[in-house]
Amino acid sequence: MPDDQTVPHRALLVPVKGIPLPAHFAKDFDAVSAFCPHPSDLLVASYPKSGTTWIQEIVDLLLHNGDAESCRRASIIKRNPFLEAPAHLCQRTGVALLKEMDPPRVMKTHLPFQLVPVGFWENKCKTIYVARNAKDTLVSYYYFQQMNLSGPEPGPWEGYIQKFMRGQLGWGSWYDHVKGYWEEREKRNILFLFYEDMKENPRREVEQIMKYLDLSLSDDVISRIVELTTFENMKENPMVNYTFIPKTVFDQSISRFMRKGDVGDWKNYLTAEQSAEFDEDYEKKMKQVNIPFRTQF
Ligand code: A3P
Repeated sequence: MPDDQTVPHRALLVPVKGIPLPAHFAKDFDAVSAFCPHPSDLLVASYPKSGTTWIQEIVDLLLHNGDAESCRRASIIKRNPFLEAPAHLCQRTGVALLKEMDPPRVMKTHLPFQLVPVGFWENKCKTIYVARNAKDTLVSYYYFQQMNLSGPEPGPWEGYIQKFMRGQLGWGSWYDHVKGYWEEREKRNILFLFYEDMKENPRREVEQIMKYLDLSLSDDVISRIVELTTFENMKENPMVNYTFIPKTVFDQSISRFMRKGDVGDWKNYLTAEQSAEFDEDYEKKMKQVNIPFRTQF
């Protein structure tokens, strides 16, 4: 049966096992839960807008010895299917695309730890989690939701901040998401990365990913990968900048997918009062864990 490719307009959120997902992502969730990966498959996981695409492109380049042409063989969502995605993004659902590929496959998910199909952990699949500080994630998500016409309407900025703090956005609470993977990282051998570390020293982080993947590439190849994955280069690369998604779904005249790629951009959007309220709430939600996020350099 062909996948339903109807483009939803401003989908509503529907709870799946307590986690709000856009309705079209929630629809066939049983097929996602039943997906069983191969032990050689790699999962790139994150809360939305944390630098997922950046990590995916680095991983693909590492797996192809830094060969830019190989990594332009297809758009990033065809190279690394989005596990829980419905069909309107890529003509096929994420699960359908994955089933057409032979392992080892690389796939992306935004699912919180407890919703990831259990087969990933039973099969001890390698998993890279990338986390970004809450305030920059909030701003990036707000702009993304404006241009993603298939997803929920973000509404006004002030209300959006409240929704973020209450975990009422797609894929749920940022706070629970990062805590969920952080607490499991050692037991599950998850490579836990920070967006801010990537910005600070991309070469160090590329080398860390390389080691996690049990690869050993030359210094020249590593340098090339760092250069190919700068924000400026990825912004111009049609295989990763999401211009391959039709304007009826991602209207990049509203906001580019590759928007700013900065640390500390939140200062341009949160007022002093909003920032103070956010910080107070953050302390309460994050006090039991010590995850070393940086909101600026
Ligand atoms: P901004 O909206 O702050 O610019 P994801 O891939 O998880 O959806 O995350 C998207 C965010 O990562 C966007 O943030 C995007 O610009 C940023 N990003 C993507 N590639 C990047 C790169 N090479 N360097 C820095 N930031 C990057």
